[in-house]
Amino acid sequence: MAASRRTGGWGWRSDKQARDDGLTYNSVSTWCSHTQLTARRSFFVVQVGNLEEAAKAKEACVDGIIVQGREAGGHVIGQEGLLPLLPKVVDLVSDSGIAVIAAGGIVDGRGYAAALAVGAHGVCLGTRFLASEESFAHPLYKKRLIEMNSTDYTNVFGRARWPGAPHRVLKTPFYVQWKNLADQETEENQPIIGHTIIHGVHRDVRRFAGTVPNATTTGDIDSMVMYAGQAVGLITEIIPASEVINRLIDEVQHVIRERFSDCQLRPKPNKDSAWLVDVKRSGQSLSKEFICCM
Ligand SMILES: Cc1cc2nc3c(=O)[nH]c(=O)nc-3n(C[C@H](O)[C@H](O)[C@H](O)COP(=O)(O)O)c2cc1C
Repeated sequence: MAASRRTGGWGWRSDKQARDDGLTYNSVSTWCSHTQLTARRSFFVVQVGNLEEAAKAKEACVDGIIVQGREAGGHVIGQEGLLPLLPKVVDLVSDSGIAVIAAGGIVDGRGYAAALAVGAHGVCLGTRFLASEESFAHPLYKKRLIEMNSTDYTNVFGRARWPGAPHRVLKTPFYVQWKNLADQETEENQPIIGHTIIHGVHRDVRRFAGTVPNATTTGDIDSMVMYAGQAVGLITEIIPASEVINRLIDEVQHVIRERFSDCQLRPKPNKDSAWLVDVKRSGQSLSKEFICCM
């Protein structure tokens, strides 16, 4: 394992090296020496999509693990939903002091509270910040994020540049038209549908490229890839990033105060072989809140 607290020296590691070391191509693009990172007061955080990768990250003595559920927007590493996977990773690293950060489908304080409830120390939001005022996403991309509800898990985009890297995208009319793209097709040899600037470099954007439209992009924006997580339908407005954070904090405090504090749960069997869980707060029954399990 390359990026361990046991290794010395500085060195960015290539994707291929990481893969050869048993890490999936998508999970860790660069590994570097923890010693140097500590000297720079940096934290070494790795995103994983399954328990096996989490175990490797633990062995590598990372500072934090982002646990990404299949709900996530953009490139998606694993197959499991966040809620089943997260507690397994929490249990795995409970003796290590490694921070566990939940990612995938979290856009508000309710998702934040759910992640905390299953043991996460924090949350990582992608799609929500994409739809912020400061985001460098193209205005039309931001507009689609607040208009659209539906996403899909696919491998249609960017196959040549990043093979074997599935991703979650908005179900735009362009995507729906091409979602069954033949396996051998890639963005290579496709028509140029626009132009963009990335890190100061002018680039052509070909059809099916994995390049999201940013503020510099021109051309047929609606035919370009638009990454988004499953909770995109909960995002209804473009707001400043600071407002995203402030709302997140206010909402999570509200959820904890209103739903978790001073709660008593009393399971009672009822007819139809179901269980009714009567939730009482401050001695008062909250009749609307119950869980039924057959
Ligand atoms: C525009 C965009 C691009 C992304 N690109 C990558 C990527 O290249 N590699 C990766 O591991 N995850 C990528 N992700 C996933 C994020 O790291 C994170 O797991 C995800 O955004 C969390 O889910 P959410 O979007 O539902 O909040 C991307 C996400 C978005 C929205």
